[in-house]
Amino acid sequence: MAIRLGDEAPDFVADTTEGPIQFHEWKAGRWAVLFSHPKDFTPVCTTELGAVAALRPEFDRRNVRVIGLSVDPVDSHRRWATDIEDVTGHRLNFPLIADPERTIAGIYGMIHPNASETFTVRSVFVIGPDNKVKLTLTYPASTGRNFHELLRVIDSLQLTAGHGVATPADWEDGDDVIVVPTISDEEARTRFPRGFVAKKPYLRVTPQPNR
Ligand code: BEZ
Repeated sequence: MAIRLGDEAPDFVADTTEGPIQFHEWKAGRWAVLFSHPKDFTPVCTTELGAVAALRPEFDRRNVRVIGLSVDPVDSHRRWATDIEDVTGHRLNFPLIADPERTIAGIYGMIHPNASETFTVRSVFVIGPDNKVKLTLTYPASTGRNFHELLRVIDSLQLTAGHGVATPADWEDGDDVIVVPTISDEEARTRFPRGFVAKKPYLRVTPQPNR
C-alpha cells in the first residue's frame, strides 16, 4: 500500500553512515526529509548528494533533518562519500541509510518494479514534527532533483501549517499568500491585520503573515 499524504511515516531501524538509528527517535519531533537515490557511484546521484550537502545550512535553518537511502551497504556509502566531496566540493554531512535487504525501500514504496526491479527510484518524503507525511515526490533515475524547489516547498509547508493560508503557483518565501476559503472575510480581517485584496470572492491575497 502506497504511503499517502497525512499517513504516519513508518518508523524503522537502520544502519547509516553515522551509525544505527531509529527513525522517529532520530528526527526527534522535527521536520525531516527522507529521500532515496538509485545507487552509489552513479553520476546523477553523486551530484544530488553534493547538492544536498551544500544546502545543509538551509535545511538546518528550517529545523529540518535530512537523511538519504539506497540499497547499497554502508561501507559502499562511506567509500562513495570521498568521490562526492572530490566532485562537488561538499563533504557528506547527513546520514545515508544502507538498505541492502530493501526493507525500508519496500515499506516506503521506493522500488517501482516497472522502472527497476533492483534499485530505488528518486523518492522524497517530507515528514512533519507530528511524524505525518506532508509531501511526496517521485523522480526517475535519469532526472536529478532540484533541491532548491524542495526548500521552497518546505517553506510553504511550514507556513501553511500554522497560518490559515495557502501559497499560489511559483510562490517564494516573502511573496503574498492566499487566504484559505474556509476563513470568512470577517475572520480574515482579524487574522490578517495588514488586510487582504479580493481578486475574486474565492481568491483573496494577503502579505505573508510571518514576515
Ligand atoms: C545516476 O545516478 O546517474 C543513475 C543511477 C541509476 C540509473 C541511472 C542513472
